[in-house]
Amino acid sequence: MGTSHAYDAIGIDQLRQTGSFKWSTYPDAIGAFIAEMDFGVAPAISDALTGSVGALVGYPTPALVDAMADACARFLDDSYGWKVPAERIRPVGDVLIAMRATIDHFTAPGSKIILPTPAYMPFLKIPPMHDREIVEVPLLVQDGRYVFDLDGLDRAFADGGGMLILCNPYNPVGRVFTREELLAISEIVERYGGRVFSDEIHAPLVFAPHVHIPYASISEAAANHTITSTSASKAWNLPGLKAAQVILSNDADAAVWATPVVTRNELLASNPGIIANTAAYDDGREWLADTHTYLDGNRRVLGELLAAQIPEIGYIPAEGSYIAWLDARGLGIDGSPADFFREHAGVALTDGIACGAPGDGFLRFILATPRPIIVQAVEQMAAALARRGAPVSV
Ligand SMILES: Cc1ncc(COP(=O)(O)O)c(C=O)c1O
Repeated sequence: MGTSHAYDAIGIDQLRQTGSFKWSTYPDAIGAFIAEMDFGVAPAISDALTGSVGALVGYPTPALVDAMADACARFLDDSYGWKVPAERIRPVGDVLIAMRATIDHFTAPGSKIILPTPAYMPFLKIPPMHDREIVEVPLLVQDGRYVFDLDGLDRAFADGGGMLILCNPYNPVGRVFTREELLAISEIVERYGGRVFSDEIHAPLVFAPHVHIPYASISEAAANHTITSTSASKAWNLPGLKAAQVILSNDADAAVWATPVVTRNELLASNPGIIANTAAYDDGREWLADTHTYLDGNRRVLGELLAAQIPEIGYIPAEGSYIAWLDARGLGIDGSPADFFREHAGVALTDGIACGAPGDGFLRFILATPRPIIVQAVEQMAAALARRGAPVSV
């Protein structure tokens, strides 16, 4: 199971007592369905948030916003060699708010939104809320790994697609795209004068030998057609604190963002979230490195456990993020595999169908949890399958 770590000692009862969403939604099941970490937060973040409540309430102040932009710029440069002027990094409440603002203000009314699927669940819901039709372009599987369907993307732009939603690292399939793959996308986008919204929230959680390449950093053309959003909220476990960054990589978009109708989105960021993001980027790197190593171990251990106990489940360890994407189609489960495992194994996972039709028969398993809990979850899943009878081979 790998070397021991303090995280190993965090037990289910303790997690249940926190009353967190992940551990209270299904009181009888192991919570592995929502992207929250079970490891608390970096000491640098709790220190930054300790103090008077008076310092935390109020609308985002220019001083706090500037400090977060500076810290984020330093992190982008140190981590990916991406040099972004701090004034081009603006606050928003979360990455999905950034996406909504981008759809509203940077795509034409009636234009279509191109979405590779399976996709992070809210990506399927948000465009229709903004009167935009989604054109799904399912990923292809080549040599056992997911890749973009470049011809499909080309056709989608030719057919009126205005903006591509890019998720890198990719929730739910865990891919981290290479420079060649990103360049191939940008060529297509350029051909049609399209736009890209690049969600890079999982970027600090990329595992070697893979490296995160910010999409907007690959060329001037990409910088000119992209709005990027990121946040410390996944890698440093700050969901719900409401702060993320929009990165504007060209003058025209920066000018549009500065107009009052768009800038008001900045007020949806909270001061505690901004302070926590700043602390994460500047002072949370040691905690991140340690947690990252632990998560790397978790994705490998899951592979070993599945191979030994449920080899019918297909699993490719994620190249980035703490999300495991499990191919449960070979189990011969009638109906939802997530319902089966929640009801019969006491393990709450996300049903892949929530990520779009290509996710049918798949499961999302959140691995940001103590390793003994992963062991227990797989044991319970294997036992439920054994009780049901031998898995049906296909
Ligand atoms: C790809 C992606 N984007 C955005 C989000 C939303 O994160 P938050 O609510 O912390 O902004 C998530 C959360 O899991 C995610 O996986």
